[in-house]
Amino acid sequence: MSRFEAIRVHQGSTGRFARLESVTLDELTPGDVVVRVAYSSLNYKDALAVTGKGSITRGTPRTAGIDLSGVVESSADPAFRPGDRVLATGAGLGESLDGGLAERARLPASALVRLPDGLSLLEAMALGTAGFTAALALRRLLENHQTPEHGPVAVTGATGGVGGIALGLLKRAGFTTAAITGKPDSAAYLRELGADEVVPRASLATAGKPLETAVWGGAVDNLGGDTLAYLTRTVRPWGNIACIGLAQSPALNITVMPLILRGVSLLGIHSVAVPRAWRLALWEKLAGEWKPRELERLIVRAVIGLEQVPRACEELMAGEARGRYVVRIDETGGGA
Ligand SMILES: NC(=O)c1ccc[n+]([C@@H]2O[C@H](COP(=O)([O-])OP(=O)(O)OC[C@H]3O[C@@H](n4cnc5c(N)ncnc54)[C@H](OP(=O)(O)O)[C@@H]3O)[C@@H](O)[C@H]2O)c1
Repeated sequence: MSRFEAIRVHQGSTGRFARLESVTLDELTPGDVVVRVAYSSLNYKDALAVTGKGSITRGTPRTAGIDLSGVVESSADPAFRPGDRVLATGAGLGESLDGGLAERARLPASALVRLPDGLSLLEAMALGTAGFTAALALRRLLENHQTPEHGPVAVTGATGGVGGIALGLLKRAGFTTAAITGKPDSAAYLRELGADEVVPRASLATAGKPLETAVWGGAVDNLGGDTLAYLTRTVRPWGNIACIGLAQSPALNITVMPLILRGVSLLGIHSVAVPRAWRLALWEKLAGEWKPRELERLIVRAVIGLEQVPRACEELMAGEARGRYVVRIDETGGGA
């Protein structure tokens, strides 16, 4: 059986570590569809897995990578045929299933989405889990009656993958936006992405009364911790906060006052186990009317190879990156 390269997470005596190594399909978690991976991408979760700083994979050894795009090589499921172009984000990849940072993946058909018209294999990974999550957040905000009339929507972790794409999606949907960032020197970039206003994270009040002057119509939060607590105190009546991430902290020290005196809603966003109908509909949106403009120029920080992944993951963990890393594995997906 032929061997191929994969970034595998192992359990060592002092913790987890990842390395590029050669494996066979037999060593992967079971699945009906074999995909030649064209591209993967790096999300915060991948950085946690590859640096060993977070127990992302359920079980070891496991191929890291929560995202992939590529071409079907073989399928025992009638839903896919050899040559089909596909993508996968979340759905257990890089966690309970061997993931996308590899030349091949073997997955259940239920984890795969046919690449929608309007997206290239590279663009699908420029978006990846980050883009899908930002789209899910927008869907949840709209479903809970967020309107531009509420006022500006604050986006935290704005130079990151989810934050940057969320700025563009919100702007396109007619919202005024504010980028809250730890990198105020990136203001020009954030404005290009769709920010109407740039607010240094250091200027936010980190502790205060349960309610402060309400300035934000709503929010998309990637940080958790003090920043999310601040947002609960400053969102206007009936505004929504889409809770996505924990880059600052998983802790949340708030009171119920914003919820019961202002009708503010905290909307949970979970991009892994998403009902399939929502998943398909959101990818169609991302390939069509919600497709971010100039995706490659504005969102892609760099296209790197598998061997550059560990270093890029260190940068992500330090919060230093701007935009998204796409990982090029075999851009033709095996010549298709
Ligand atoms: N719920 C879900 O399903 C889901 C899906 C995707 C991602 N997430 C989570 O959402 C968050 C963002 O993901 P991502 O892929 O966009 O990550 P990313 O590309 O690494 O961006 C994270 C951004 O957060 C800020 N940041 C990083 N470290 C920080 C720290 N220690 N303290 C404060 N701010 C920090 C930085 O932005 P600034 O410098 O501009 O502030 C950074 O660019 C992560 O926590 C991730 O796990 C959750």
